[in-house]
Amino acid sequence: MKHAQVAVLLLVQSMNALARATATTEALFANVPGTMDDEGTCQCSVYLPDTTFPVQKAEQLEIIAATLSEKFEIELSQVKKYSKMIELYQQQILNITIRVEHMEKSSVSYTELDFQLLKMEISDLERLVTQLKSSLVGSNVIVEQIYLEITNLTILVNELESLDKNNVLAIRRQIVSLQNRLKECEEATNKTIIPPYFPPGSCNHRGLLNVSQPYIVKLNWRGFSYKYGSWGRDYSPSNPEREVYWVAPLNTNGIYLEYYRIYSSFDDLLLFKPIYESRITYGEGSGAALYNNYLYYHAYNSRHMVKHNFKTNTMVLRKELPDAVTGNRFSYAGVSWQDMDFAVDESGLWVIYSTERSMGNIVISKLNETTLDVVNTWQTRQYKPSVSNAFMVCGVLYATRPMNTRKEEIFYTYDTATGQEGRISVIMDKKLDTVQSIGYNPTDQRLYVYNDGYLLRYDTTFQS
Ligand SMILES: *[C@@H]1O[C@H](CO)[C@@H](O)[C@H](O)[C@H]1NC(C)=O
Ligand SMILES: *[C@@H]1O[C@H](CO)[C@@H](O)[C@H](O)[C@H]1NC(C)=O
Ligand SMILES: *[C@@H]1O[C@H](CO)[C@@H](O)[C@H](O)[C@H]1NC(C)=O
Ligand SMILES: *[C@@H]1O[C@H](CO)[C@@H](O)[C@H](O)[C@H]1NC(C)=O
Ligand SMILES: *[C@@H]1O[C@H](CO)[C@@H](O)[C@H](O)[C@H]1NC(C)=O
Repeated sequence: MKHAQVAVLLLVQSMNALARATATTEALFANVPGTMDDEGTCQCSVYLPDTTFPVQKAEQLEIIAATLSEKFEIELSQVKKYSKMIELYQQQILNITIRVEHMEKSSVSYTELDFQLLKMEISDLERLVTQLKSSLVGSNVIVEQIYLEITNLTILVNELESLDKNNVLAIRRQIVSLQNRLKECEEATNKTIIPPYFPPGSCNHRGLLNVSQPYIVKLNWRGFSYKYGSWGRDYSPSNPEREVYWVAPLNTNGIYLEYYRIYSSFDDLLLFKPIYESRITYGEGSGAALYNNYLYYHAYNSRHMVKHNFKTNTMVLRKELPDAVTGNRFSYAGVSWQDMDFAVDESGLWVIYSTERSMGNIVISKLNETTLDVVNTWQTRQYKPSVSNAFMVCGVLYATRPMNTRKEEIFYTYDTATGQEGRISVIMDKKLDTVQSIGYNPTDQRLYVYNDGYLLRYDTTFQS
């Protein structure tokens, strides 16, 4: 195309030269000498130079120029066409590059590897679902459904491998959606997982697993200022389903147990309709417990245990607890005057206390409830004043400590069957700062907590 331009330029230049040549020719005729003839006619002779005006050449040139510029025009338009096409190609290349990059980025390369990956993902899913299935008690329709779909997917992938490899993406999407559903399902079942059931009285479990949120039953019947006390449900091994509740707020000084109430149903408790409301003189601390129709408590200013018949409101038996240290020396952390804490579990009546020999560490004694004799004694290595309370379940002592004003932690265990101590962490939410007493009922497997005057109740779950 440059050539054509040059050609045209040359052509133009030669035309100019031609024009100049003509002018020169005219000049040549300027000083020609002339002669006069007889008739007075002036004659002059001109000798034209050899280089006569090249009219034909000029014409030829003109034709060539025209042809050339025509060609040039053609070439020029061709160029324009080509560069347009090149632009288009560039665009296409760019598009392809982008697509390739995209494919690389999303790692979608349809190779054998994809099928390996798919198979791995599917077997992962399968493993998850199998785990989920086995962790669920009984059958779960959703999990069964997902399991079927995964099995179908495995078959599908095997088929596809020998056929259409482009469906890898579709399968991927299916896997992702299955994974999400599995996760949802797992989260849901984690929330609603049904803990193994252990019938009342059964100790065929491996200890406390968790406690529920507290159920606030009521404020104690004497009112808000009666912050110390105990409450719970009677356990009568011969008639475990019968409901009898006791509520025993201490006097406001936090020492004397003087008045207590017995309710013959939970509704009566809620309605403040006691079957008995009685006075004793006096118990000490908030460690009392009701077991098989008798109230057991620590007799005031003594080392004595009292067995009390609430129906007749009479003391049946009073007996010393050997070596027990009393007088608020080794009470619980944050809870005064509870040197003797009675506890009831599946196997009967216990008392939790300290001795001089134990140096304030918790001592557990199993009592014969008929005679109040100590049947057996266990020494723990847990300092009693550093725990906030304790209770017994299936022969295992559980001790608590405050985490903050709203949470208590069951952190220590002592198994009287093996003499083994243990650490656990079961968090108990509480409503107010101090847990004055915790009692356990083997029939409903609930914890009864006296929390700064409020009566709280917790469901428990056990480890299988
Ligand atoms: C390039 O891609 C864009 C968007 O995908 C499309 O609109 C355009 O037609 C493509 N151009 C070519 C040349 O393929
Ligand atoms: C599994 O595949 C069979 C046959 O293709 C189909 O009838 C069934 O509905 C599939 N099941 C699930 C859970 O997708
Ligand atoms: C479900 O609980 C198990 C064990 O309790 C835990 O490993 C898993 O991460 C939990 N899953 C979800 C989705 O919360
Ligand atoms: C224990 O129970 C509480 C209250 O229901 C619950 O929030 C918590 O997640 C449970 N803890 C465990 C470890 O299951
Ligand atoms: C409690 O003591 C009485 C009287 O000694 C006895 O008959 C009874 O079997 C004892 N009970 C238990 C559970 O050991």
